Amino acid sequence: MSGSRSAGRRALYAIGAGVWVSGAIWLLVHEPWWLRVHGAFAFASVWMFGLLWGAHVTKKWPASRRRWSGGVLTGILAWLTLSGYLLYYTGNETARSIVSVLHWTIGLACPIPFVWHRLGSRRRRAGNQVTVQNVRN
Ligand code: HEM
Ligand code: HEM
Repeated sequence: MSGSRSAGRRALYAIGAGVWVSGAIWLLVHEPWWLRVHGAFAFASVWMFGLLWGAHVTKKWPASRRRWSGGVLTGILAWLTLSGYLLYYTGNETARSIVSVLHWTIGLACPIPFVWHRLGSRRRRAGNQVTVQNVRN
């Protein structure tokens, strides 16, 4: 996201935290309520991802910076969305349990690529004031 303290960025952080925490709590306690909260945040995530696609990914891609970490993050979000859909509609129990494990392990791990992607700009900002100006535009 480009604006340093934009509403878009706050929304990204809130929805990202919500979908992660609700999924993680469901893994710990298995109360149906948490899956409902997770489902609600999941819909919000899909909306957020669409916003991010137009406002961030397609804008930043041509500059050739942070393509690796950004591309990995984009792939992960696409997989979480697709596997979330499959969790609803996969009838076969064995297939569903495989999708489930591949959904929550990758979901739990996704803060790692997020921090990898996010910290890139910190280094850039700390290193060079002129670049800071450019990054914030
Ligand atoms: C291929 C896809 C992507 C590319 C090429 C990309 C590129 C970049 C670049 C170049 C920056 C540095 C700051 C700037 O130039 O404005 C950045 C920052 C950032 N990106 Fe991405 N990005 C991608 C996907 C994503 C995704 C999927 C997310 C969220 C889940 C994300 C979240 C962020 C955040 C939070 C920052 C920090 C913004 C700041 O420091 O102000 N990016 N990205
Ligand atoms: C873009 C992000 C995500 C989307 C769209 C998404 C979507 C979904 C959907 C639709 C379900 C099925 C709910 C149901 O059966 O009622 C689900 C289940 C689940 N999600 Fe996510 N999710 C996302 C991220 C995450 C993350 C980050 C985690 C881990 C912290 C996670 C952990 C889980 C778990 C544990 C389940 C239950 C699996 C099962 O029923 O076997 N999800 N998710």
